Amino acid sequence: MASIEVDLSAIQAGQQVIFKWRGHPLFVRRRTPKEIAEARAVSLNDLVDRVARNANIAENAPASDENRVIKPEWLVLVGVCTHLGCTPTVSTPQSPQGSYGGWLCHCHGSDYDTAGRIRKGPAPQNLAVPPYAFTGPTKIKIG
Ligand code: FES
Repeated sequence: MASIEVDLSAIQAGQQVIFKWRGHPLFVRRRTPKEIAEARAVSLNDLVDRVARNANIAENAPASDENRVIKPEWLVLVGVCTHLGCTPTVSTPQSPQGSYGGWLCHCHGSDYDTAGRIRKGPAPQNLAVPPYAFTGPTKIKIG
């Protein structure tokens, strides 16, 4: 299956850029220290889906923020709501979405946090982390 290489150097802290990978949106978000701290402060007991859903680590790894990323600043996600497949909208300080600072899916109200974990609404799983690797300080290869 096709892989893509993405240059992250132009992405600002707090910004998300959407690429296309295997016919789906691919979210790359450069998280701020505040967004990382918020994600890390969440107890696993408060999560709807306690599995990391990260293709780069063990299938049953817990959904801690550490297990959702390779480098804390960079969150890489398949941008497909795990309910019925709509594209969730990113939350920013200028345009807040939902209650958890991550993404809100406007189709039926699934609310994701700053680690892309489902926190409220009908989606059963966290947004998927695709297989990827850093090929340079600001370059990743997905797939
Ligand atoms: Fe996202 Fe239903 S498809 S909430």
